[in-house]
Amino acid sequence: MLEQLNEKDFGTPKRISEQEVTLEIDGMQVTVAAGTSIMRAAAEGGVNVPKLCATDSLEPFGSCRLCLVEIEGRKGYPASCTTPAEQGMKVRTQSPKLQALRKGVMELYISDHPLDCLTCAANGNCELQDMAGVTGLREVRYGYGGENHLDSKKDESNPYFTYDASKCIVCNRCVRACEETQGTYALTISGRGFESRVSPGQDQPFMDSECVSCGACVQACPTATLLEKTVIEMGQAEHSVVTTCAYCGVGCSFKAEMKGSEVVRMVPAKDGQANEGHSCVKGRFAWGYATHKDRILKPMIRSKITDPWQEVSWDEALDYAAAEFRRIQKKYGRDSIGGIVSSRCTNEEGYLVQKLVRTAFGNNNVDTCARVCHSPTGYGLKQTLGESAGTQTFKSVEHSDVILVIGANPTDAHPVFASRMKKRLREGAKLIVIDPRHIDLVRSPHVQAEFHLPLKPGTNVAMLSSLAHVIVTEGLMATDFIAQRCEDKAFEQWRDFVALPENSPEAMQQVTGVSAELVRGAARLFATGGNAAIYYGLGVTEHAQGSTAVMGIANLAMATGNIGREGVGVNPLRGQNNVQGSCDIGSFPHELPGYRHVSDSTTRHLFEQAWGVEIQPEPGLRIPNMFDAALDGSFRGLYCQGEDIVQSDPNTQHVTAALSAMECIVVQDIFMNETAMYAHVFLPGSSFLEKDGTFTNAERRISRVRKVMPPKAVYADWEVTVQLANRLGYRMDYAHPSEIMDEIARLTPTFHGVSYEKLDRLGSIQWPCNDDAPLGTPIMHVDQFVRGKGKFIITKYVATDEKVTRKFPLILTTGRILSQYNVGAQTRRTENVQWHEQDLLEIHPHDAEERGIRDGGWVSIHSRAGDTVLRAKLSERMQPGVVYTTFHFPESGANVITTENSDWATNCPEYKVTAVQVMPVTEPSEWQKKYTRFSRVQHELLGKAKLSPSKDKSVA
Ligand code: SF4
Ligand code: SF4
Ligand code: SF4
Ligand code: FES
Repeated sequence: MLEQLNEKDFGTPKRISEQEVTLEIDGMQVTVAAGTSIMRAAAEGGVNVPKLCATDSLEPFGSCRLCLVEIEGRKGYPASCTTPAEQGMKVRTQSPKLQALRKGVMELYISDHPLDCLTCAANGNCELQDMAGVTGLREVRYGYGGENHLDSKKDESNPYFTYDASKCIVCNRCVRACEETQGTYALTISGRGFESRVSPGQDQPFMDSECVSCGACVQACPTATLLEKTVIEMGQAEHSVVTTCAYCGVGCSFKAEMKGSEVVRMVPAKDGQANEGHSCVKGRFAWGYATHKDRILKPMIRSKITDPWQEVSWDEALDYAAAEFRRIQKKYGRDSIGGIVSSRCTNEEGYLVQKLVRTAFGNNNVDTCARVCHSPTGYGLKQTLGESAGTQTFKSVEHSDVILVIGANPTDAHPVFASRMKKRLREGAKLIVIDPRHIDLVRSPHVQAEFHLPLKPGTNVAMLSSLAHVIVTEGLMATDFIAQRCEDKAFEQWRDFVALPENSPEAMQQVTGVSAELVRGAARLFATGGNAAIYYGLGVTEHAQGSTAVMGIANLAMATGNIGREGVGVNPLRGQNNVQGSCDIGSFPHELPGYRHVSDSTTRHLFEQAWGVEIQPEPGLRIPNMFDAALDGSFRGLYCQGEDIVQSDPNTQHVTAALSAMECIVVQDIFMNETAMYAHVFLPGSSFLEKDGTFTNAERRISRVRKVMPPKAVYADWEVTVQLANRLGYRMDYAHPSEIMDEIARLTPTFHGVSYEKLDRLGSIQWPCNDDAPLGTPIMHVDQFVRGKGKFIITKYVATDEKVTRKFPLILTTGRILSQYNVGAQTRRTENVQWHEQDLLEIHPHDAEERGIRDGGWVSIHSRAGDTVLRAKLSERMQPGVVYTTFHFPESGANVITTENSDWATNCPEYKVTAVQVMPVTEPSEWQKKYTRFSRVQHELLGKAKLSPSKDKSVA
């Protein structure tokens, strides 16, 4: 879908009001919502008033005086951006006087501006240049010799954009963007009058300031002052295509601005329904990995992982993979192979992988990375509410009065949503944070949590029960809602359970480590503060009681009536871009698309008819069961598309032992990742820029991914799966991913109304989308729960087996950082490493002092599973007794430490609680030495890859 490069800018934000006003602008009648500026009213009527300091993503500021108009009956020349339209007003936007005034303003600007338009990188896309044209500026009467800023130094510190102060017109748009849109407050205008300049932090370079490189200021700048370095290098784009970010579960919509098939820049789409024109450093700038030299573009095979890789044609690689899978099945049985669906690939690609497993492989051995992140969400929400997904739109937060964030760190992991949330908090909503760490949200510019409950890792269920205890025993429940909407008996049992004295905050204080007074205060605020919404992340799910905690969250929402309307709800913040989608389309071993159990014969028959095969009625192996079965000798072959299980799954040494035991691992990826080092067939993957498809974000929003360049390795991922299925003797025949979506829609009631045509028309669709909801479902459970009546479920706290002892006295918990993403395969190959070039162990100064650990020193982290060595970072964000790290770099081995403990219902690993000891050391761990040797050998084997004679001409 080709888009206009520059979208229309209405000058000031849209106002929503039931009241309308009609006014006359240049003789034309215009009707707008009350509160709309004259500038916007004019733009809506087709009249563009000149402007520089106004843009429709920011509140008007009224500083440039270019947008002056005449209003009948009023003296002077008011600024149209700051003057609201009124009923009956008569406005003139053009007159000789206005023309002269505007020209005068422009003259002043241009007298202090380099006259290098022809060689300026913004040439052709500069509002100052446009305004010089619009105002008819032909000369500058003051000359250019006066005092000016033309020698101001450029700030090149940010790897992605420059700040050229000589071109700044001090319009303040960047400062307002950083405040209003991003909420970081990194910029100010320093100095006064002529001396005033934009300043990051205390007159620091951008990289030394609080700037998080979201790009909002660059987007807002009307001149070449703040400009992407890629635009400076490549020049202005010539066309653009709207697509969806492939990083996190926010699912931001972007315009890929292109020159031919090269990306010049990614610009957040103003009408993107998940992001409304905002972005974070990853989606906005960190896309260079897609063309990184490490991309593997030719298929490769080898019979043993100690053999050099051999480059082969696509035909040879696919023939080899298919023959190996068939050989293994013949020798070890039908269930000896399986597949892993990627949560980074599209819905259509995931659907095809699970279809291939259930048809061509003939079993249900298919799983996805949601196993290790949000599988408890699927289970817990299905049990209580009836649907395995979040209940709201992101926009809904604009109506929240109380926001409870538990086990999530949105400013790092879901930054664009965090900016929206912070905006609402600045408007006065109250915040409760339940997290062992003092995350940024607890206190950031103009945001201060009312309550921070710094619980001990592993005690979420105890905390949720004590919050519920207060709500029940203090009579703060929404009794009418419960009576009408929830199952009576289950509610009564739950009510009696949480009311037990053992669940009181006082009794649980010992367990959670949080004072009863704080818990009582937070519970009262949550229950009585108006619309209360819960946002949670992997800090809830990745526990031995992950599913229990999700049900505890749903219980709290039902008990207080906070479900089924704007501003409330239960909102899992999904990690990867398409983790919601990969679950929706049947990637779990027990569920067919649309979360229908394989044991349900009606559903099975539906798919059997459509696919022409018999589907096994028993669930297949989950990922951890695949590893166990590999070590037992019964699971021998794996098709792994776009997942790096060696780096991302817990207990690395167990995973690598399992992979080493297999006979054929087929990895389909864009890079030689950690898992591929154990593979026998490498099928080159395609990045999100190289294919068509859809992603589904954390709001259940299905958005289009559009191809902006041809696949670098010839095929998009879905085409490779089709070819593999065909070689296995199962016929797949699709000309385009839209046909795959049509099949999903045909076979899945919640997707019945979804099609590419509708997605193109509406921009995006939140499922369920069917005859009952043809335009999709922004808010779920409005009149009744999907399961009919909501079901309270008793959530008894059971302490994890992972206990601290004298040998392992600290608890390690893991998470993410803003600039890196998941296993880091993409972000490590971008300039984002400038913010985070290695994983660090955060430790409280008190724990560090006790052990003689200094900031920046090497420390060993030792758990029951293994040990590794990282650099220490002393941090008051930690509570004593808890240490923290990220897992973005393979050599860190964070998952060498994590154990195989997992959620009782879903096997989701207990990443967030590992008992460890931490000590200063001087050299890497044994595992790290072994890893370094293995990795070096594997890179040498990759270097030896040779092109064998090939009949396949498809790979040049
Ligand atoms: S890039 Fe974002 S955080 Fe940095 S100064 Fe600009 S708006 Fe602020
Ligand atoms: S840097 Fe750009 S947006 Fe900021 S004040 Fe200068 S011209 Fe305006
Ligand atoms: S918030 Fe997530 S989806 Fe949006 S740009 Fe950042 S990484 Fe991409
Ligand atoms: S655009 Fe209205 S004062 Fe600048």
